Amino acid sequence: MAQQPPHIAIIGAGIFSRNTYIPRLAEISDLFVLRAIWTRGAVEIAKKFFPNVECKWGETGLSEIIDDVSIIGVAVVLAGQAQVEMSLRLLKGGKHVLQENYYQGLNIVAYSAVSELETAMSCYNSFNVAPIWAIAENYRFEPAFVEGRKLLSEVGDIINVHTIIEGSMNISNPYFSSSWRRSFEGGFILDMGVHFIAGLRMLVGCEITSVSALTSHVDGTLPPPDNISSTIQLENGSSGVFVMVVSSKSPKVLWRVVGLKGTIQVERGNIDGKHGYTVMLFTGDGGNKSWFYPFSGVTDELKTFLADTSLATMKKDQSFPVEHRLSFLEGARDVAVLEAMLESGRRQGATVQLARYRANLSAVSLDTVAYVTPYS
Ligand SMILES: *[C@@H]1O[C@H](CO)[C@@H](O)[C@H](O)[C@H]1NC(C)=O
Ligand SMILES: *[C@@H]1O[C@H](CO)[C@@H](O)[C@H](O)[C@H]1NC(C)=O
Ligand SMILES: *[C@@H]1O[C@H](CO)[C@@H](O)[C@H](O)[C@H]1NC(C)=O
Ligand SMILES: *[C@@H]1O[C@H](CO)[C@@H](O)[C@H](O)[C@H]1NC(C)=O
Repeated sequence: MAQQPPHIAIIGAGIFSRNTYIPRLAEISDLFVLRAIWTRGAVEIAKKFFPNVECKWGETGLSEIIDDVSIIGVAVVLAGQAQVEMSLRLLKGGKHVLQENYYQGLNIVAYSAVSELETAMSCYNSFNVAPIWAIAENYRFEPAFVEGRKLLSEVGDIINVHTIIEGSMNISNPYFSSSWRRSFEGGFILDMGVHFIAGLRMLVGCEITSVSALTSHVDGTLPPPDNISSTIQLENGSSGVFVMVVSSKSPKVLWRVVGLKGTIQVERGNIDGKHGYTVMLFTGDGGNKSWFYPFSGVTDELKTFLADTSLATMKKDQSFPVEHRLSFLEGARDVAVLEAMLESGRRQGATVQLARYRANLSAVSLDTVAYVTPYS
């Protein structure tokens, strides 16, 4: 029997939903049926790309989406603090969920209350069915990082890793005025920074075990802090630095892995009007090779979620090992690294270990999320 494209819904009509999700989904509209969008804000844009989409709102609209058994997957794109509660509600209703990578309200690092994450996880683990709970972190799907990672063996033993981010979060940016990003400490650092940490972790292929950071607040138009300078210790013994300025007049977004035999560099840029990343490999003989990869992470991630959702639905118990780049655990690790840097900054650069964080995560059996366990 030919497989039917999955029917899905979108919850949330914020800037990211309107500017990114809906247009990217429209490009792959043969792979799914967009049945419903929840909240009024996106009706116009959604109707433009998907004339048959139903627009729902309020408690009634949400219940209708949950009760509609033909809708199997939902993308949750709400303000950070509301994400987890909404995801849990949909998961409980049996929907596969792709949650945008905003859950910074959770304070998941071990030194602060893990309890929110723990509560969310034990709630998820208590459900009779365990639908896919995926975290959208599109950088793990950007071809530049996928390909850059494959080059790692060419540079030999890693001597140093550095990430230099000079962002451009100024008043011209549509996210600048976003209120939820301003309602907790480090809002922009976290919201923007998780992607850069994801890129770093993807590129080096090993975990960050401790950090020591200085933070500061210089630009009064941004919430504090707007500037982080951190050293990072990798689990395999290498070290490096992570520098992030939220708003700079001369933006630069760059990762470098320096090895004994060469260096890999990934840098954001623009070639022939296309935005993307240039990956460069500097070899020992003074030569270099370079490749340009236009952005396609959001699209590739949506395709993966749709494919995994279809496969999971064909299983009687819905259990399916969601692709690890979408797993909750990976997303949680990105956030934890930044939260550790912010905490270190609050303590004037004291070293903050991430190892305990991992122990805590396994204690709340997050690993079972990476490979969703069947219900009994
Ligand atoms: C970890 O570091 C060692 C020594 O620098 C290196 O040889 C190895 O390839 C690294 N492993 C990963 C996964 O990066
Ligand atoms: C904001 O940043 C962008 C990108 O660097 C730049 O083009 C624009 O001029 C900046 N706007 C202001 C008001 O500084
Ligand atoms: C970042 O913080 C450092 C230390 O407080 C400060 O000297 C520097 O001016 C800040 N840089 C920017 C670009 O805000
Ligand atoms: C890469 O190599 C070419 C010569 O093959 C050289 O012209 C160019 O400057 C190099 N690029 C960088 C960034 O070093």
